Amino acid sequence: MENYVICKCKQVSYFDVEDALHNSKTFSDVEKTFEEVQKVTHCSTGCGGCHDKILDAISEIMSK
Ligand code: FES
Repeated sequence: MENYVICKCKQVSYFDVEDALHNSKTFSDVEKTFEEVQKVTHCSTGCGGCHDKILDAISEIMSK
């Protein structure tokens, strides 16, 4: 699995999201998990254009 930048505004990478998920206990609901990841990484607090990509990454990591 290659790392890549998901959120250009905040320079948040796939691995950053993965790390944030590993520190989070909320795995039941993608939107809730997204909020947790956002608190840790500040992803999607700039233009917001990466929101869906972050959600996709979270779903992918959660289903691993
Ligand atoms: S690319 Fe993530 S907020 Fe702009």
